[in-house]
Amino acid sequence: MSPAGDLRARVAATRWYHTIDLGGGIVTPGWFDTRATVSRVPLPASLAGLRCLDVGTWDGFWAFEMERRGAASVTAIDIDDQERWDWPPAMRLARAAHDSRRYVEAFKAQSAGFALAREALGSRVERIDLSVHDLSPERLGEFDLVFLGSLLLHLRDPVGALDAVRSVCAGEAVIADAVDAIPSFTRPRTPTARLEGIERPWWWQPNRAALHQMVRSAGFEIVEATGVYLLPRGAAHPRPDVRGLLREARTAQGREQLIVACKGLPHAAVRARPLVGPDR
Ligand SMILES: C[S@@+](CC[C@H](N)C(=O)[O-])C[C@H]1O[C@@H](n2cnc3c(N)ncnc32)[C@H](O)[C@@H]1O
Repeated sequence: MSPAGDLRARVAATRWYHTIDLGGGIVTPGWFDTRATVSRVPLPASLAGLRCLDVGTWDGFWAFEMERRGAASVTAIDIDDQERWDWPPAMRLARAAHDSRRYVEAFKAQSAGFALAREALGSRVERIDLSVHDLSPERLGEFDLVFLGSLLLHLRDPVGALDAVRSVCAGEAVIADAVDAIPSFTRPRTPTARLEGIERPWWWQPNRAALHQMVRSAGFEIVEATGVYLLPRGAAHPRPDVRGLLREARTAQGREQLIVACKGLPHAAVRARPLVGPDR
């Protein structure tokens, strides 16, 4: 088999979250297509000479993007075993009672896509199995630029995670996370968050104002903020049952799923600088 044919076969045999252009016409079939949001996220155009960190990298899309922008080095962290995610206790209990194939599949190690993309791109990004909660300057040193994407919604303590990010951020942090779209527009100045934490590993759904408040309360000042934008589904995302979702549209979660199905997952992003105080 030719090298391109071999790569194509390996890509097809791997589960992907990110849609990554590996060159030669080979694009990974991701769950989401973050390529569509690159122009919205306030990542500096040039990262030349900077030491960068990607938090919760999954297949590494944003880590590779930082490398492409000239970073001197990129470190990427993630949790290899999904069993160590912040699963809601209610879900763990439900799993113990009705263990199903769905969860067994979901707990598979997820570093295979990253390793394959890294090899195909000839990347030098270093991936480390580390939780955001365990970030510290003693463990990894400090970074000029920290990127964190679509992770806070999966954490029980998003402000604690942002505080850990601040502890290693010597320059700027770019945070691009999911927001609850409708209250972002109906309550633009009132930080509110919808709590899930029962049926899936999703916790707080902040409106845009609450995302800003989380970042500020973790000790950052926001220097740039986007409006709400949409992260579109990728080729591997299951096709939504729009009719079924319409029936659920009377609940906030149902309305959000309808928006995701039709348009994509609502996000907002900020570029922020750590406040300097006695703990740094
Ligand atoms: C929805 S994906 C987002 C991927 C990527 N950051 C992006 O913006 O496209 C969430 C990622 O966060 C990782 N994750 C979950 N809990 C984590 C934790 N406590 N520390 C670090 N990464 C975590 C997951 O394994 C997954 O790779």
